[in-house]
Amino acid sequence: MPQFDLIATSTFGLENVVARELTNLGYQEIRTSDGRVDFRGDERDIARCNLWLRSADRVLIRVGEFPAPDFGALFDQTLELPWHELLPVDAKIPVNARCVRSKLHAVPKVQGAVKKAIIESLKRKFNRFRFDETGAEFSVEVSILRDVATLTIDTTGDGLHKRGYREFSGAAPLRETMAAGLIQLSYWNRERLLIDPFCGSGTIPIEAALIGRNIAPGLNRSFVAEDWPWLDRALWKEVRAEAKAARLPKLPEPVLGFDHDPAAIRLSERSATEAGVISDIRFRDQEVSALKSTREFGCIICNPPYGERLGDAEEVDAVYREMGRVFSALPTWSIYVLTSNRRFEKHFGRRAPRRRKLYNGRLECQYYQYPGPPPKDGSRYMPEIPELTDEQRTRGEERSQEAHRSSTGQPEPERSNQSPAKESRPGANDSVRDRPTSGRPRPAGQQRSDRQEPRANEKRSDEKRSDEKSPNTSPWPKTWPGRNRTPRSES
Ligand SMILES: C[S@@+](CC[C@H](N)C(=O)[O-])C[C@H]1O[C@@H](n2cnc3c(N)ncnc32)[C@H](O)[C@@H]1O
Repeated sequence: MPQFDLIATSTFGLENVVARELTNLGYQEIRTSDGRVDFRGDERDIARCNLWLRSADRVLIRVGEFPAPDFGALFDQTLELPWHELLPVDAKIPVNARCVRSKLHAVPKVQGAVKKAIIESLKRKFNRFRFDETGAEFSVEVSILRDVATLTIDTTGDGLHKRGYREFSGAAPLRETMAAGLIQLSYWNRERLLIDPFCGSGTIPIEAALIGRNIAPGLNRSFVAEDWPWLDRALWKEVRAEAKAARLPKLPEPVLGFDHDPAAIRLSERSATEAGVISDIRFRDQEVSALKSTREFGCIICNPPYGERLGDAEEVDAVYREMGRVFSALPTWSIYVLTSNRRFEKHFGRRAPRRRKLYNGRLECQYYQYPGPPPKDGSRYMPEIPELTDEQRTRGEERSQEAHRSSTGQPEPERSNQSPAKESRPGANDSVRDRPTSGRPRPAGQQRSDRQEPRANEKRSDEKRSDEKSPNTSPWPKTWPGRNRTPRSES
């Protein structure tokens, strides 16, 4: 089978979670950079990764990467790529473009030039003059970053967060991919009790049940590449059959999902039924203030209200204080909270030993992590999933330099000891991406223009924090086991 350069795109902050998932699926030589994880695979891997990746947004085939300082270069280099090996004669070919910090910034013109070059290339290879585009969809993405174009074809279709179990959603549902990321960044495993006291439409409990039962998240949906004529349908059948066989029996104990909104609870139950995990979750209409447990070493993973709407601030501050009060009675538990509210720690009453910057849609959030002590049963933790290193962050830049070098035949420069310049995130110069014909949501890996650099006085995400002074009003016991402990890795 031919091998492809594949890219799993991800939201900012979850790249290494996706890399861990790929490693667990058996892939090697994985390269992680901002918003994407590069790896190699064949046709079967395209099917497998679409079916199994929990935190990635899409799986793309990288067709080519080259310098594109002007339209001539963009057209000529696109023309040279082996489109005829990937696109059938009747392929429907929507082209999306994104231009960041590049001389070429007129998105519609870039889309037009690439489309023209692809059609011209197909004309030459297939010896035809007309392409009706009545067949399967091959959505081409051209991303120009610092004058280097990356051309990809999307194998996924609707983003991977669309699992097929959610018919309706609540007011502020978490993306399924983000929920799966939060769970995989925690110490939860199927042997431990998990509670989401603000479960809303149930995304965290449902994703946890899918993880705990090793159910492939894409089992209940289809992917655009399933219609591709050269991708053997039998492969999809095989990977689905394998995934079905890999399912684990019912969880040893149910995940608990609570919310004070009865309508949200009904919605959660419907989605969990659709996902096939209703017997693994117990949903209940309950105020957070009523949360208590006699159990030890459980996990709480939640996405409480953020108080983003005007007038909600005081109410949300009170909810955080209540969380501080009730969670402090669970000293052996590991607690994880995602919120964009910067007053969270103040009202919760305790600074998080670890936190990680994540984006919930466009909202910059922190994932506050309060790991508890390891369970006495000796169950082992997964090793920590680190944040992207500076080296990984600058890999996009290295890739650009490599592409420039290979096109001009320049030798590799000697390595200096200096750390490479940090990639500054796309910002004011970014061209807004035009919505092309397909109208599908754009890959989240391409949402970097929404991101912001950390403020000068702001710590990097997923930092380990030593200054754990609690405000005076803290409800937390001074002897809380998480105090002054450096985060563990698996021993
Ligand atoms: C940001 S939403 C959670 C969304 C959820 N993660 C999902 O994927 O749908 C916050 C939820 O907290 C619930 N909530 C707010 N205050 C609460 C309280 N005091 N006790 C319990 N639930 C509360 C709201 O009803 C809402 O569903």
